[in-house]
Parts: sequence; structure tokens; C-alpha cells
Amino acid sequence: MQVLVPSSFCFFLGLLILRVSSEALSAIKAEHASLPPRGWNSYDSFDWTISEQEFLDSAEIISKRLYPHGYEYVVVDYLWYRRKVPGAYTDSLGFDVIDEWGRVIPDPDRWPSSKGGKGFTEVAKKVHSLGLKFGIHVMRGISTQAVNANTPILDPAKGLAYEESGRKWTAKDIGIKERACAWMSHGFMSVNLKLGAGRAFLRSLYQQYAEWGVDFVKHDCVFGDDLDVGEISFVSEVLKELDRPILYSLSPGTSVKPAMAKDVSGLVNMYRITGDDWDSWGDVASHFDISRDFSAANMVGTKGLLGKSWPDLDMLPLGWLTDPGSNEGPHRKCNLNLDEQRTQMTLWSMAKSPLMFGGDVRKLDETTYNLITNPTVLEINFFSSNNKEFTYVTSTKSFKKGDQVSTLQSGRCVTDGTTPETHVLGLTSCADVKAIGWSISALDQDVEQICWREKLNKKHQAPFCLYKRESRLASDEDIVYQQQYQGKLHLSATDRSGFCFHASPKRKITSKDFKRGSFSPCRRDANQIWEYSHNGTLANSYSGLCATMNSVKAKVSSSGVRSWIATGRKGEIYVALFNLNSEKTVISVKISDLKNALPGQNLNEATCKGHEVWSGKDFGMIDKSISIAVETHGCALFVLKCATD
Ligand SMILES: *[C@@H]1O[C@H](CO)[C@@H](O)[C@H](O)[C@H]1NC(C)=O
Repeated sequence: MQVLVPSSFCFFLGLLILRVSSEALSAIKAEHASLPPRGWNSYDSFDWTISEQEFLDSAEIISKRLYPHGYEYVVVDYLWYRRKVPGAYTDSLGFDVIDEWGRVIPDPDRWPSSKGGKGFTEVAKKVHSLGLKFGIHVMRGISTQAVNANTPILDPAKGLAYEESGRKWTAKDIGIKERACAWMSHGFMSVNLKLGAGRAFLRSLYQQYAEWGVDFVKHDCVFGDDLDVGEISFVSEVLKELDRPILYSLSPGTSVKPAMAKDVSGLVNMYRITGDDWDSWGDVASHFDISRDFSAANMVGTKGLLGKSWPDLDMLPLGWLTDPGSNEGPHRKCNLNLDEQRTQMTLWSMAKSPLMFGGDVRKLDETTYNLITNPTVLEINFFSSNNKEFTYVTSTKSFKKGDQVSTLQSGRCVTDGTTPETHVLGLTSCADVKAIGWSISALDQDVEQICWREKLNKKHQAPFCLYKRESRLASDEDIVYQQQYQGKLHLSATDRSGFCFHASPKRKITSKDFKRGSFSPCRRDANQIWEYSHNGTLANSYSGLCATMNSVKAKVSSSGVRSWIATGRKGEIYVALFNLNSEKTVISVKISDLKNALPGQNLNEATCKGHEVWSGKDFGMIDKSISIAVETHGCALFVLKCATD
């Protein structure tokens, strides 16, 4: 059983804090997220509908059954401020509970202890009394409802309405309507952080969370395709100044690459590197490439806010669940089979991802429980090192059941090269050379078009072109808006359509909706506003990212085999072999190749012993190589002990 080192350690230090200098305090805070954070999040089982009773019942079970295995944070996911009444859903407007300062507060019908302005104080107290830490999900900027109500802004330093230049500032002054959250466009929008009032508003939110006793914030709609480095940097600064250490998590991370993450990893403690993960094989398989890229870029456990930061592969949707975008609580079983679930647990652990269980703990079956508390897997997740993809594997597929094995392919890390490629629009950093390739040309006197470099376009395929569109905006508000976006463009599919090119994907509805680049009715939306630079880049005004055409395989790379390697605290070597094929596959590794992946370990290949975790099979002394038949979508996890030379 895993003894929980970090929290008892922090509790002990917590007692000391009263008597130590601020210098020592920051040394203690530097322990922040020293291991990949672990806990439970309400989203996969309740979507947004969870109540106080359901949350506290869950927390109590977690404290007894999962906390001894390191699951420490219990996190309420989004829309805790939305009234659960007919008409309310994930992107509805007008159902949120806000206070006099325009800040969202828990829905008192679902969270009765919040009545009387107490927010989450009572919930946090109960969570702390169970020995756990309390987390909440928060959105970008300010709620549309606060802007519509034009609430005053709290000056957190004075406890009064924010005044500057002889006037009181309100929500309409700071909300940027055309920068509405792309996946919840009716719910939230960015605030203008160039204004003192905008900064005061965000500060008033996070100070309140600290007063409530929050230990963890999951900040949504600021990363990936919704990138807002300005807001992340500011929130990070505010959190650093608070007396209460709050772990800072970003979500989601649709189309994140290490280059983008490098701009924020030092400001946070964990950040999603994928869109939402649900219980389908395609979702599991889509995590292999991205986790490999982040470990290869040395981003795992690197410097973060007051401690470390961790690339996050998303919650574990195992056990008893709900559906994405649903108004319903838990009501169905996980769709992954046991092999696929083991693959997910093993990859998440080998990649040292935060582990946030998503299933309903009140209905936690033994199989799921054993899976998420497997001691070897949890040991790997917390304490292994040198974690990386290992490419020296060979495989032979068997396409008939039984012992007859036919060799289809073998070689180094076999992948199926036959999947067709297509081009999709993606977003990348404007400094990325991949963003270069747009050029403007005049079609006739009135119409100009912007096209992506033609050489990428295959034969018989027209180049991808967009048309500059005249904006016909007239009202006063529109004039302000036009000034702000002067020189920037609306782009449409044809020279006369009312549909504008839109950068944003839809999200939270289902994880499949990663359609980057689409056309939607032209409107005031920073996602539809583009700026052409003479170096051939096309920057989007919402995220500041630039448009690029990526060639992608039509299918997620879900073919072939993968392997990961890591070393343990006592010199063990962990080797995970994953079968992404839709046939049972024999996967083999030579012990001598482990040496190549782990230079400096001085392995003596003649004397390795090992066992496989999921089958429990003891392999005894291993003669030069390991070979194992792995089920479709399944994995084998070896723990090897090798003598050193
Ligand atoms: C292109 O120009 C823009 C605007 O000057 C700049 O921000 C960006 O870094 C440049 N990109 C490249 C790849 O040179």
C-alpha cells in the first residue's frame, strides 16, 4: 500500500508555518506539486449536475478508499454556479448565480451550505476534515451574465467598488464580448487586463477562492485552442501572492504542442495536453504521440508555479459514468474493455500524468478499484524516472485465434504506413515556421484572396483560399470594435458568403468535435478575426495563434505497437508494451536494447529477472529477450530486475 508522503509532510509543515519566516514559507511552497497530483473530479460521472450531498458523500468514500493510495484532491468540475432548472444546460445563458460584484457563486439549491454568502467555505471545511484537498473548476474571464447586469467591480484591496480616474468601473467596461470563450460562447468572456478594473476583477475572484479554502483551481478556456497567455500569467501572479497555496491546473489542451506549453508550464502546476478524454478506444490511442512528445521535450515534472508542473492526459473515465454535455448524473458503465482500461492506466502512469479518477466512487466496482489502486502502477506514476517511449520493439500479428501466428510485419516500432493523409487547419505559435505559407493575391479589382502555399496541395485539389470580406458594421459599439481591430480581417469561404472563417473547435460536447477551422455566420467574435503579416503568417485575434495546414493521418495513429520504459526507485526497469492493433500481437524486446535506452545503467543482460503486472506471471530469469502475446488494445507491464556489470 502506498503511504501518502506528500500530504502528511505538508500537514506537518503546515503546523510550522505559524512560526517560520516568509523566506522559509516560500521554501515550503516550493514543494508544490512535487509529485503528479492525484485525486477525483466530478465531470466524468456528473457532468455539471453534482450537488453538495453527492459531492461530500463522494469525498467521504475517497478519503477512506482512495486517499491511502495518494488520491488527495477532490475537484468540483464546471458550472457549480448554474441553477439546475429546465432550460439550463452547458451553454445556456441566464441561469447562473452571481454576487453583487459579478462573481459566480455556488447555486444555493445544489450547494445549500453556500447560503448567506458563504460560498464553498463549509464544503472546503468538510473536505479538509476528511484529510483531503478541495478543488474547483473556473472559467476564463467574466460571466456574460455579470456583463449583461453591468455589476460593479470589487476593489479587493479596499473592499469597496473599484474607482479610478474619478469614476466607478463596471463589468461592461472590462468584458471583451468578441473574446467569448469559444466552447461556451454564451457563458464567459475575457476581461481586459490592460485596465486596472480588469485586473481588480480577476484578483477579486482568486482572493475569494482562497478565502473559501480552495486548494486547487482548474482554469478552463485559457489554453490550447483557447490560449490566453495574458490571463494565465496574471492568475499565476495572483496565486503566488496569496497566503494559501493553490495548485494551478489548466484545461483543456486541444492541439497543444510542447512549444506552446513552454510558454506557460512555469506558471502552472499541471496542464492538459489533449482535448477531453472519454471512454472510447480512439481517445485512449490518441494520447500516445502527445505524451511521447512531452516526455521527449523534458516537460514532465519540470519547474512550475511554486514547485513543479506536469503535462496532464485528462481524467480517467472508468467505472460508472455519465455522458459528455449531459444534464444527467452517473447512469452507465465505462465503454472500454478491461484490456483498454489497463492500457490507459499504464500509459498515464508511465507518462507520469496526474491521475484524476472520474467514475462515481459511490458505485466503485472491485475491478475498477483494483485497477486504479494497483500498487506497481501507482509507484511508477509517482516515483519512476527516465520515462520515455522506447522504440526498440518488434511485433508479429496473429490473425487467427489460437496458437497459429503468421508474421505480418516486423522491425523497429512497426506502424501501419498505409493510412491516407488529409490536410486540416491547425493553430500554432506565430513564431513557428510552420505558420508561414499564406499569401495574398487580388482576384479582381474588389476582391482579394488569401491562400495557403500551393505546394502542399495534392494534385486534383484546389488550393485552400479564403476571401477578404468587407465589414459593414455601423453602430457606435461597432465603431469602437472596428478601431480595436483595425487592419484585421474577416475572411469568408467565397467572396460573397455571410459565413466567416472561424478558428475555434467546439468542445465539451463530445471529444470528437476537434474540427479546427470551420465557417460560421460572420459576427463579432475574435475567433473570426485574422491579421495577415508580411512574413506570410495569419494570426487569430482570439488566441494569438497562427493558422497552419497540418497533414494528419485520417485515423488517429491507433495502429502498430508502442512501448515505454522507465526506471524505479530501487533500480527496477519498467517496460510497458502496448498493442494498438486490432489483432492479438506478439511483442518482443531484447534486453540488450534496454541498455541503449538507459545509458549509464550498466545492465548485465544475462542476469535479468522479471514479472508481468497485469497477468501476475513470473518470467523468472530472462534469456536475452522478452516476448509476449498482447491482446488487442491491451498491454503488458514488466518489472525487471537486472544485475549491473
Ligand atoms: C511573422 O511576423 C509576426 C508579426 O511581425 C511575428 O510575430 C512572427 O513571429 C513572425 N513569424 C515568423 C515565423 O517569422
